[in-house]
This record gives sequence, structure tokens and C-alpha cells, in this order.
Amino acid sequence: MSRPASTSNLSPALVAHVPTGLLVDGHWGPAEGGRTFEVEDPATEESLFDVADASPADALRALDAAHRAAPAWRATPPRERGEVLRAVYDRVVARADDVAALITAECGKPLAEARAEVLYGADFLRWYAEQAVRAEGLARTAPAGGNRQLVFRRPVGPALLVTPWNFPIAMATRKIGPALAAGCTVVIKPARLTPLTTALVAEVIRSELADRGLPTGVVNVVPSSCAADVTEPLLVDERLRKLSFTGSTAVGRTLLEKAASQVLRTSMELGGNAPFLVFADADLDAAVEGALVAKLRNAGQSCVAANRFLVHDAVAREFAQRLAAAFEGLRVGPGAQDGTQVGPLIEEKAVDKVAGLVDAASDGGAQVLTGADRPRTTGYFYAPTVLSGVDPDARVVTEEIFGPVAPVVAFGDDDEGLALANATEYGLAAYAYTSSLDRAVRVSEEVEAGMIGINRGMVSDASAPFGGLKQSGLGREGGEAGLEEYLETVYVAL
Ligand code: SIN
Repeated sequence: MSRPASTSNLSPALVAHVPTGLLVDGHWGPAEGGRTFEVEDPATEESLFDVADASPADALRALDAAHRAAPAWRATPPRERGEVLRAVYDRVVARADDVAALITAECGKPLAEARAEVLYGADFLRWYAEQAVRAEGLARTAPAGGNRQLVFRRPVGPALLVTPWNFPIAMATRKIGPALAAGCTVVIKPARLTPLTTALVAEVIRSELADRGLPTGVVNVVPSSCAADVTEPLLVDERLRKLSFTGSTAVGRTLLEKAASQVLRTSMELGGNAPFLVFADADLDAAVEGALVAKLRNAGQSCVAANRFLVHDAVAREFAQRLAAAFEGLRVGPGAQDGTQVGPLIEEKAVDKVAGLVDAASDGGAQVLTGADRPRTTGYFYAPTVLSGVDPDARVVTEEIFGPVAPVVAFGDDDEGLALANATEYGLAAYAYTSSLDRAVRVSEEVEAGMIGINRGMVSDASAPFGGLKQSGLGREGGEAGLEEYLETVYVAL
């Protein structure tokens, strides 16, 4: 594993400690045949690190380790499992600046946002440290009185965790936290584009386990340039009992088909197309402020990002103009640069896709109020963009944008607004701004989304159930529900 070509924004101490190998059974080492792939800084297009590129045989070695460690880890007292997670939380928070710098380097988001992600991500460790002792069961007399019923919970078994690139720490800890709390061992396949932060956190966990003399194969990490090299051999291996995936609905469908061969427990956090409803009675200042968060967190590269702004006719023009003015004032640049508010997209392909959606919408009659250009020649930047008068059937409305583009679609009455909000196969997040309690209740009851922000542009919280309806996924992460995903129920008639 070679050292970095360009890490000018990272401290030498951090550079020296970023693990770039595979973590198998408590040891960092090379991939089969010494294969590596490059991780790039999306703000500079420069290579950051070469990372070990796991083969199918490497993936199976990782599963061997997770399977071997499983009996000892499930037998580790829940309190001690919780204490491990709490100690890792403390160590990650103590290194928040380092972790944030690494997130910015590999993912591009501004440092302040990266730091917020470190705290959000670490919070999953703290929350599940607290939940590890709460895998509750039941004991009662059977209704007919002839026997007792004992219901208890067991860890489901070794789990494969497949994480996306957009929140490199939070998406890993949101899976690792509940898995370890429940007593499951894991194999993690981090995203090809951002494997470094996961490796850094895994190293903190490895060292905490080693310091306590706990099994070394509890957490294994196998980055790969080809996801199928890791997922395919593991999904057909009967020792694997759980798959947790965050990513696109298209990939999720394929993984679900493969997971069917072993009838695996699955948690699927898939794509979104969040409506952001602004009713005529909304506080427009608050709506614009919420829109900035809901749209521009991680430059719009989030599955809960507001994708479509559905705004009542009476305020659509004014809202779009105010949003455009707010977007225009934002500083776009490398995330490591002071004052940057919007960083790059993850790769060139992403910029091309976003630009294609904007161009198609504007060819279809939408008006560009701001943006619609590539503001820098180096790095994968796209300007925050507001489109008004957008046709509800435009691709920029019907597809997940994953970029800093806000299409504004006007609606006439509440029925039409809600019908537009629900006119998608997705059902992850939704946002609504209104000063009417009745409207807020109606939105909460009728909008088809697993998470709804009312007069708020942010729903994510480690202690709340994160997940979607319809084709946005199966199961929940975070909250009490997140632990359930890693537990089985066993009933004993006694
Ligand atoms: C995601 O985009 O997948 C997750 C975002 C979040 O947890 O807030």
C-alpha cells in the first residue's frame, strides 16, 4: 500500500495513521496479489491514497474472521459491548478534527459540515452504547394457563455492511453501532470513492477491542474497486446472516435478489425524491433557511436532500427568487478552504449527470434563476442552481438529482400539492412549511415518506428511526428500531 501523492490538507500525523489495507481478524494487510485502487480528492482531482483492493478470496477471509469471532462476541456481556462503543465514541470525538479533515479530503464537503458529520456519526456509537443493554424479551403465562412463554432476542449473526460515499463516517457507524450492540460481528464494504474514514474508525474499534482482550475479528473491513467482488461470494455463503445496504434503489433491488438465495435478513436504505412543500401560509424566511439545509447539505448529495420544491402558486415566484438570492451568496470551493459553504460533487460523472438534468429542464421551458454552470476548472464543482416554472414531469423533478439544484414547481391547492408530493415510487423524506397545524397534521398523515420535517429542513438524528416507505427501502436505522434490525426473536414454550 503506497503512501499518498497529495494530502497537503492533512496533517502528517494523520497521513501516517490512515489505514489503507484490509482489516481482517484484527490485522491490517494487503489484498490478494497486492492489488490497490486510488482514492481521489474531488476538489483537486489529485490522488490521495492507494487503498488495498479486496478480491473475492479476501472477502471470504473477512467472513471467516467474522464467523470465528461471533460466538465470543455474542457471549460478551451487553454492558461490555456498550462500553466498547462508548469508548470508541469518546476516541472519535477526541479526534474530530482529524476525522473531519479526512472526510473533506475524500468526500469534498466543507470542513464545518465534515465536523458536523463526525459528531452525527459518533452519536450512533453513543446511542447504541446506550441501547446495547436494551434488547428486551418477555416472560408470561400462556393465555391457556398450561405453560410459560419466554421470548428472547439473539444477535442475527455475521453481517455484511455496504456503505455509500456521501457520509463516510455516519453511514458506517449507523450500521456498526447497532450491529455490535446487538452482538453481531461484521464485514464492512466501504464505498470505493471514500473508504478512508471508515478505515480510520475501524482502526479505533480494532484498537479498543484489542486493548480489552476482546475478539479481533469482530470488525473486518474490505474496500474494493468492484463491489460485486465482495458482495457476491458473501451473499451466497451460509455463514452470513444479515445484509445492511445504503445506496441506490437500483443496486438495492439487485442485492435483494441475491440475498434471497440465503433468505438473509436485510436492511435497505435506498434512494429518495424528497418533496419540499411550501404552502401559501408558510413563513418564507424560515422556508428559505430550511431549504438551504435540506438542499445543500453535502452539496445536495444526500438521499434525504430536498429534490423537488413544490410551492403554492401564491408564493412560488417570491420563494424561488429568495432562494436564488440565497444560493447566489454562497461561496463554492474546496471544502478545506476557509469560508467554503458548498464543496464539489464526488466525481466528474456526477457533475455531468446534474448538468444534463438542468439542461434538459431548461430546454423544456424552465427558467434558470441562478447557477447552471461549472464555476471552477479543477475539481468537480457545480454551482447551486434554482430553476423556476419547472414541468412536474421534467427529469430533474422525477429523478434523484444528488446535486445542488432546486427545481421549483408551482401547485394550486393542497390536494394538488400532496398529489404531486406522492407522485413518485420513492418515499424516504419529505419537508413541509406551513403555519397551519391542520395542514401540518394532514401532511404528516398523507405524505408517503418515512421521515417528515415540518418547518424543519433536517430530520436526521441518531436517536430517531431513519428509513423509507415504498421503493426507498426496508427497515430502519437509528433509534430503537435500528437495534431490532440485528436481532432475532426466539420463543420458548416452557
Ligand atoms: C444519506 O444520504 O444516505 C443519509 C443522510 C443522513 O443520514 O442524514
